[in-house]
Amino acid sequence: MNKKFYITTPIYYPNDIPHIGQAYTTIAADIVARWHKLKGREVFFLTGTDEHGKKIENAAKKKGKEPKKFVDDLVPKFKNDWKKLNIDYDEFIRTTDANHKKIVQEVLKKVYDKGDIYKGTYEGYYCISCEAYYTEKDLVNGCCPIHKTKIEKLKEESYFFKLSKYQKKLLDLYKKNPDFISPKSRRKEVINRVKDGLNDLSISRTSFDWGIKLPFDDRHICYVWFDALLNYYSATREKGKQKFWPADVHLIGKDILWFHTVYWPAMLMSAEIDLPKRVFAHGWWTFDKEKISKSRGKVINVDELIAIAGVDSARYFLFRETPFGQDGDFSEQALIDRHNNELADKLGNLVSRVSTLAEKYGLREVNFKKIEADIDISNVVRNISELIERFEFDKALNSIFAFIDTLNQFVQEEKIWKTGSKEDLFELATGIKVATILLWPFIPETSEKIAKQFGFKIDFKEIKKPLKVMKVKKSEILFKKIK
Ligand code: MSP
Repeated sequence: MNKKFYITTPIYYPNDIPHIGQAYTTIAADIVARWHKLKGREVFFLTGTDEHGKKIENAAKKKGKEPKKFVDDLVPKFKNDWKKLNIDYDEFIRTTDANHKKIVQEVLKKVYDKGDIYKGTYEGYYCISCEAYYTEKDLVNGCCPIHKTKIEKLKEESYFFKLSKYQKKLLDLYKKNPDFISPKSRRKEVINRVKDGLNDLSISRTSFDWGIKLPFDDRHICYVWFDALLNYYSATREKGKQKFWPADVHLIGKDILWFHTVYWPAMLMSAEIDLPKRVFAHGWWTFDKEKISKSRGKVINVDELIAIAGVDSARYFLFRETPFGQDGDFSEQALIDRHNNELADKLGNLVSRVSTLAEKYGLREVNFKKIEADIDISNVVRNISELIERFEFDKALNSIFAFIDTLNQFVQEEKIWKTGSKEDLFELATGIKVATILLWPFIPETSEKIAKQFGFKIDFKEIKKPLKVMKVKKSEILFKKIK
């Protein structure tokens, strides 16, 4: 097994405070990063902000601020919100960092020297909200197909990246590495579009100046996506980080799949840099069945998300409710229901009952017998590990909770409150240890509380070790029911 593991989130536009969509990708990356840390791998988990381009420049203007001052004011809000959500990232990159700018210029120079960049004139459409180019036939009634807003028509001198040259190489990549575009359901749409043909990509503009200058023509500012995608690589050019490239997985939302599976590998091929192993695109959340959008007032920010039922319940809900690759509908009631019925009634109740009885009667070590007669725990752990590594978080949580159900049934069937069996309580505490360690990537705060209560370490290796017998105290209520 490879000891190193490098995972990234998209870098977010700091044009406002973070919302649930951005939190979703970031929590997902945190879950995967924690999982690999749990298994003893050396993990590099990168997140950050995408700070250049017209969209940010415009947002800053609206607030009457200089772009740098504008993003400097918003970046701490991202860092703070990630902290509130218990996101344990290793590095936060900003595209305005000096090192990043240097690497972008080096790569541009390399691609230019190779003959993959040429000067021409761009004539076409550009949506500032998407920071993306469109052709006449992409538009819907003259508007951006995503934002439904009026779209800029451009005609200006521009440098182009020879994307078309990489069509065959990209198709070969998708064939040779079927996991490169994940989940499988997303591969076809990209492959078909690439087969249809690729236009060369306009990678510079002269009509604004908030961005990185082209090293071979400083009248031109680099296209924000060319700049942004390189963050994944530039973050690994720092001391001690080189070994992490290529990335094991870029987690992204489905809306930015094209940039990550077409532009990005083509740029790297041209610059002769190794390719990331995988790009995984998750689905989108709607809110009460409507698209989450600022203009229509349906946005949930991080504070609102946490206020519903706490951090762990939010983290749990987002990954239990819908399969990670698919779209989901966010409803406050559904979150509260899962908080009450699963976290409080199943996990909370189990920990509360077992710790209360253990405080009263104590624990006595036995070889794991009764529960194991019904359920092969190694098998459960193997199955859950595989599900997490395949990003099937909903199924993994489902299996962990099926195991918790088994433990609750054991309390019921053996009537432990009557027998006060120290051996049975030991078995139950051991079961709690297994479930808690597996749950840690999802609900770290609660898992750490339970671990402290029963005196075990959160480490994958602990799953197989016998629990140390200690004096257990009745636990506090882990999940207060919400009426
Ligand atoms: N800056 C670019 C990414 C550059 S990566 C080199 C960007 N930023 S973003 O802030 O607009 O969005 C980032 C992420 O949030 C995307 O992965 C996107 O899919 C995700 N989401 C935004 N709204 C979402 C939902 N409503 N639901 C789920 N995820 C969504 O794009």
